[in-house]
Amino acid sequence: MTTTRIKAEPAKYNLSMLPSLNKEKDILGYEMLNEEVSEKEYKTAIVATIPDEYKKAKFSNLFEGAQTGLLRTINEVESFKLGFYFTGAPGAGKTYAGWSVYKLLNFSTIPCYMIDCDTLLDNIQNANFNRPSLFTLEDVENYKGFLIIDDLGARGETAWTNNVIRRIISRRFDWHRKTGFTSNLSIKEISEKFDDRIASRIAGFCDIYTFMSNDKRI
Ligand SMILES: Nc1ncnc2c1ncn2[C@@H]1O[C@H](COP(=O)(O)OP(=O)(O)OP(=O)(O)O)[C@@H](O)[C@H]1O
Ligand SMILES: [Mg+2]
Repeated sequence: MTTTRIKAEPAKYNLSMLPSLNKEKDILGYEMLNEEVSEKEYKTAIVATIPDEYKKAKFSNLFEGAQTGLLRTINEVESFKLGFYFTGAPGAGKTYAGWSVYKLLNFSTIPCYMIDCDTLLDNIQNANFNRPSLFTLEDVENYKGFLIIDDLGARGETAWTNNVIRRIISRRFDWHRKTGFTSNLSIKEISEKFDDRIASRIAGFCDIYTFMSNDKRI
């Protein structure tokens, strides 16, 4: 495998490094944010944000081609893409792979936030109606860390979801903000289900990884 370069970890860990699109509404509580902690406590806090099913996700368990390519994207190797698109059948390991990237990055103190597409859209919709929400559309567009959107296309498309998803993708890639996706849909199906402009941006800016494994849940 190609040699890897991940940014060095700082000597001091702080809970303000925990991933959040909107720091003021961090799930672990605002008053904790400026506390200095040990590396072990910091990593435990990161793992606490991962759903139980994926807490043990390990980057080194991904197929080698994915590891090499993803590390190039993470390390900003020139001419490499800005993000990834994991596609494949249910249970093939796409979400697991997403959380393993999340863990690798946050453990190296490179901010990464992962959220499923449905929850992302619900929060944006709530924010639009001034209902309680973790973040706004602008927070998502402007987030400077690596954003991973799980299960793109799981919800039925509407003019509103099309518009929001296209805005997020266009804005983030225009500003060269790293973004990854998992989806059961191929790029062709994205273009049929959503629209050509969303499919074109994903195909242009992301490396596509097709997960071929049989359903790992069975
Ligand atoms: N490389 C791996 N090593 C060990 N366990 C894995 C690996 N990949 C996936 N798994 C496990 O297999 C199960 C299915 O994986 P996952 O949820 O990532 O599938 P998926 O492709 O996201 O499916 P869906 O399309 O239904 O969302 C999970 O329980 C996950 O923990
Ligand atoms: Mg999944």
